[in-house]
Amino acid sequence: MKKYKIITYGCLANHSDSERIAKKLEDQGYLKSENPDLVIINICSIRQAAVDRAFAQAKKYKNVIVTGCLLKSDYDKFTKYAKIVKKENLFSVKPKNSCLIPIMTGCNNFCSYCVVPYTRGREYSRPPKEIIDEAKLFINNGAKEIWLLGQNVNSYKYDFPKLLYKINSIPGDFWIRFLSSHPKDMGNDLIKSIRDLPKVTEYINLAVQSGDNEILKKMNRNYSIEEYKKLALKIKREIPNVCLSTDIIVGFPGETKKAFQNTVKLFKEIEFDMAYISKYSPRPGTLASKMKNQITFEEKSRRYSELNNLLKKISLKRNKQLIGQETRALINNNFIGKTKNFKTIKVNGSSNNSFVDVKITKALIWGLSGKIK
Ligand code: 5AD
Ligand code: SF4
Repeated sequence: MKKYKIITYGCLANHSDSERIAKKLEDQGYLKSENPDLVIINICSIRQAAVDRAFAQAKKYKNVIVTGCLLKSDYDKFTKYAKIVKKENLFSVKPKNSCLIPIMTGCNNFCSYCVVPYTRGREYSRPPKEIIDEAKLFINNGAKEIWLLGQNVNSYKYDFPKLLYKINSIPGDFWIRFLSSHPKDMGNDLIKSIRDLPKVTEYINLAVQSGDNEILKKMNRNYSIEEYKKLALKIKREIPNVCLSTDIIVGFPGETKKAFQNTVKLFKEIEFDMAYISKYSPRPGTLASKMKNQITFEEKSRRYSELNNLLKKISLKRNKQLIGQETRALINNNFIGKTKNFKTIKVNGSSNNSFVDVKITKALIWGLSGKIK
């Protein structure tokens, strides 16, 4: 029997690709194993740290294939240790148990720090019928949660809220989640769909990246912090129980202490439930990598810790407010799962991959504890 292992770095879209690659290999008779004859490393160039970790893995194994959304310079590094394979169109492959559905790939935004427009190319939206058929197939196979993935689902060419509406009307007991939204094109119709469609979960990842207008401009984000705040507050007001998360980059070139404090201020004002904080990583070929006033690694680490400590406090405070509430949760394994609005929850029992009704009994920094009703 041929044995394989897949190592994945990067976003959910990359994980979705890995599942599809795994399905292809299994169709060819490969078996998943920790002692593999073939190792596939599926990486993303978005941050240097991921590339470095992948490189260490590539050196460890004998028969390695590297694939992913990589910059040419990163690909070249790997040629000594691995065979490089470009990703072919994976849309036609239907993984069995997975429910990650890419609805679009690529990005047209060209944020000045980001490699995605170079590695994944321009935006391409899949036709709605293809996506709906795939969702139906997953649901008929027992999927309880469908993730719709895109770098910016708001610019889905065939109307994202309409797609949500159509998937919501597929019969069955399941949740619809999506990632990611760009603040510059998050419309009222999407906010309304999240509020009104029962299967669409109240979780929004709305990357702000920085709390400072000058940095936002240098990042080419196309919104002001005032516009972002207005939008975040509207979301919180319109969607009861919404859980709002964000992405932040600390130490972008030219980020002064004062500019960083504007991000701290934003955290205190908006009280995000969760934030994915990254230290700025200069990527070859991007505009930001050539900007003056790059921040030292030590200072980036200091800013990261300051923000992360604040996030822990806010997250605990937000979680405490939920004690006593009743909610539905999808429990995956080891009695751990997610509430409808994507809070991690530990419960006192349940079988695998099932919905339960729970009462929230305890708040932790990164999640909740609850008792099954
Ligand atoms: N350095 C650090 N973080 C980055 N991200 C994207 N590019 C970089 C970079 N060069 C982060 C952003 C984005 C998330 C997916 O990764 O915060 O929202
Ligand atoms: Fe990168 Fe900006 Fe596109 Fe997101 S929106 S993928 S950060 S260029």
